[in-house]
Amino acid sequence: MRLILLGCPGAGKGTQAKLITAHYHIPAISTGDIFRAAIQQESALGKQVKRLVEQGQLVPDDLVIRLVAERIQQNDCRQGFLLDGFPRTVVQAEALQKLSPIDYVIDIDVPEEEIVRRLSGRRIHSPSGRTYHVIYQPPLRAEQDDVTGEPLIQRPDDNETTIRKRLAVYYEQTRPLQYFYEKMQQEFNTPRYLKIDGTGSVESITQAILSQLH
Ligand code: AP5
Repeated sequence: MRLILLGCPGAGKGTQAKLITAHYHIPAISTGDIFRAAIQQESALGKQVKRLVEQGQLVPDDLVIRLVAERIQQNDCRQGFLLDGFPRTVVQAEALQKLSPIDYVIDIDVPEEEIVRRLSGRRIHSPSGRTYHVIYQPPLRAEQDDVTGEPLIQRPDDNETTIRKRLAVYYEQTRPLQYFYEKMQQEFNTPRYLKIDGTGSVESITQAILSQLH
């Protein structure tokens, strides 16, 4: 099972990625998580992408494509993988076509006003990537991870100005992928393009997705 999760910032890609990959026992590959880990470790990659990621701009295509190409060749991807946050431009989608066949593109759709509410209330447990929301998915104890009790953080790009910037980048550069994959389905019948309503409970959205994957 080789899957792509599309959808605007805050659509719930990371949340659904964990549940879908647990179901299929495949790795979730989040380019955003890879960049944030590199920034935290202050690696060469981290230094290169820090300003772009924190300002809500895209990392250059060639760098992301190289990174994903290496990652999906690793052994744990033999039975499949889920890409969360890649591709994000038509150039990336075209490069991916040459790297690997894809079975499904899952496009999670959430209205913009809901996105700002979701992202401004999001909290993260950095070491594990566990995600919470102060109202929609609150931790058992305020600002603490449920499993370790460690403090939760707010992502530097989760402030209203940067959220709006990320949404603008999404509409300009990533939204065209909807037409790219709809056209591929019409012409080649693969990958299958699924548009999923991303409003409603996390569990109901997971069910809606899983019920359409075969
Ligand atoms: P990335 O980490 O991919 O960020 P993003 O696309 O902005 O997506 P998010 O992680 O913000 O949201 P999500 O859809 O995963 O939502 P989540 O499940 O957390 O990328 C970050 C940056 O890295 C980019 O800006 C760019 O700079 C760079 N980058 C990454 N990939 C790149 C690429 N391919 N090319 C170039 N640059 C790249 O949910 C959000 C919140 O809502 C949470 O609090 C959650 O608890 C809550 N929630 C989830 N589902 C529900 C629900 N059903 N109801 C209520 N609340 C919900």
